[in-house]
Amino acid sequence: MSKRYFIETFGCQMNDLDSEKIAGSLSHEGMEPVSDASEADIIILNTCSVREKAVQKVYARLGEIRQYKAKRRDLLVGVVGCMAQLEKDRILKKAPFVNLVAGPQKGNAMGQLVELSAKSPEPVVDLRTDEMPSPLESPYIMRGSAWRANITISEGCNRQCAFCVVPLTRGKERVRESAEIIREVRTLASKGYVEIVLLGQTVNSYCDRSGEVVNFAELLRRIAGVRGIRRIRFTSPHPSDFSDELLEVMISCPAVCNQIHLPVQSGSSKVLRAMRRGYTRERYLDMIGKIHAAPRPIAISTDIIVGFPGETESDFQDTLSLLDAVQYDSAFSFKYSPRPFTAALNFPDDVPEEEKGRRLDTLQRKQKQIQNRINEGYLGQKAEVLVEGNARSRLRLMGRLSNNKIVNFDGPDALIGRFEQVEITGFSPNSLKGTWMRQLMKIEEGPQNTMIRPGNN
Ligand code: 5AD
Repeated sequence: MSKRYFIETFGCQMNDLDSEKIAGSLSHEGMEPVSDASEADIIILNTCSVREKAVQKVYARLGEIRQYKAKRRDLLVGVVGCMAQLEKDRILKKAPFVNLVAGPQKGNAMGQLVELSAKSPEPVVDLRTDEMPSPLESPYIMRGSAWRANITISEGCNRQCAFCVVPLTRGKERVRESAEIIREVRTLASKGYVEIVLLGQTVNSYCDRSGEVVNFAELLRRIAGVRGIRRIRFTSPHPSDFSDELLEVMISCPAVCNQIHLPVQSGSSKVLRAMRRGYTRERYLDMIGKIHAAPRPIAISTDIIVGFPGETESDFQDTLSLLDAVQYDSAFSFKYSPRPFTAALNFPDDVPEEEKGRRLDTLQRKQKQIQNRINEGYLGQKAEVLVEGNARSRLRLMGRLSNNKIVNFDGPDALIGRFEQVEITGFSPNSLKGTWMRQLMKIEEGPQNTMIRPGNN
C-alpha cells in the first residue's frame, strides 16, 4: 500500500505554494495525500520563522505529534521551510523524533528526501541552497485550486530590513526567466485557470536580464495578454520598487486586479530609517497620492510593525496619522519580534511588551473603523465576484472582488470557480454581504424559477 502523507503549512503564500510543490513531489514518488494527520504515515510541517510566535506554533504542534509518534514508531515526521533553515539544532534538540529537516528550497526534492529518511536511522538534514533541483520551477506541483494558481517569479531578497530574517532563510534574490513564466501561465490558462498570483519576496523588483530586459511592469503586461487569464494579483511588492510604469500597467490592464499590498511598516521616517526600509514617510505618501489619483480605484493594503526598537509615542502617533492619510482597505499589524541574525537584534528591544500590546490594539481599532467606513460605501453597488468557496459565515458562498474584498452570499456550490454578479447589501470591517444577482433576476421573473435557492432543487 502506498504511504499516506499530510502537509501542514504555516506562514505566507509562498509557503502555500511550496507545500503544493512538496505535495507534487511526494505524489510523484507514489505517496498519497490524506486530509487528516491521524491517518498519515508521513507528516510534513512546512514552517515560517518571520516572528517568534510562528516558530512557537510549530513547537507546540511538534509537542502534539510526539504523542502520535509514541504510538506509531514508523510515523515519519519532517520539519521543512524557513524555520528549518534557521534553527535545525533547536528543532532536533526539542524534537529528537523528527526524521527530516529541510530548507525552503527543497520542495521539489521532498519525495527523494522522504524516501531517504525512511531508510535512515539518523535524521536526514538538507539545508543546501544549491538550486538542485531548481526551487523556482514546479515540475510536479499538485495545485489546491482548479482556477487560481500561485506562481513563483522570484525567490529570496536582496534587501536588508533590520527586522527581517527572510533574506537569511530564503537567500539572495533569484529570478525566473520571463519566457518560462509566460509558458507556465499559458499552460495554466489552457487548463481553465482564470486567476494568477505572482509571488516573490519583493515581487516588483523582478527583472529578467537573461535576454531582452523584462521588468516587473512588463511581465505583468505580458501576462495580462494571455487569453483566458482574467485576474492577476501579485505579492509582496516593496514600496521602494513601486514605479509609475507599474501603476500605469495596473490602470491600463483590466486583468491586473485593482489592488495593491504596499507594506509600510511604520509611519515615522525616523523608525523607517532605523528599519532600513529605503523610503521616508513623505515618499511613501507621494506614492499613495498617485495611487489615490488613479482613474481606476485601487484598493491598498499594508503591513505594520509596532514597538520597533526606539519607537516613541510620537513615532507611533505618526503611524496612526498615516492610517488616516492612506485609508487602507486592510492592514496586517504585528508587535515587533526580535529575530536571530538580524540587524535590529543589536538594538535594545526597549518598548515594553505591554506597551506594544497597547499600541497594536489602538492601531487595530482605528483601522477597523476605517475599514467599516470604506465598506459602508459599497452598499447598493453591483459588482463581479470570482466565487472561491464556502463562506465562513452562515451564508453559503464566498467570492472576491477584483480589489480583493470578500463578499459572502447565498447560492449553489456549482458557482465555485465562476464569475458572478452580486449586489452589496451589507458590510462589516472585514467583508461585504451580497445577493447573487441571478437569483434576484429569477425571482423577479416569477415563482416557477425560485427553485435556485440551495437545497430546493
Ligand atoms: N517582527 C514583527 N513583524 C515582522 N514582520 C517581519 N519581520 C518581523 C519582525 N521581526 C512583518 C512585516 C512583514 C510581514 C510579513 O511580517 O510587517 O511585512
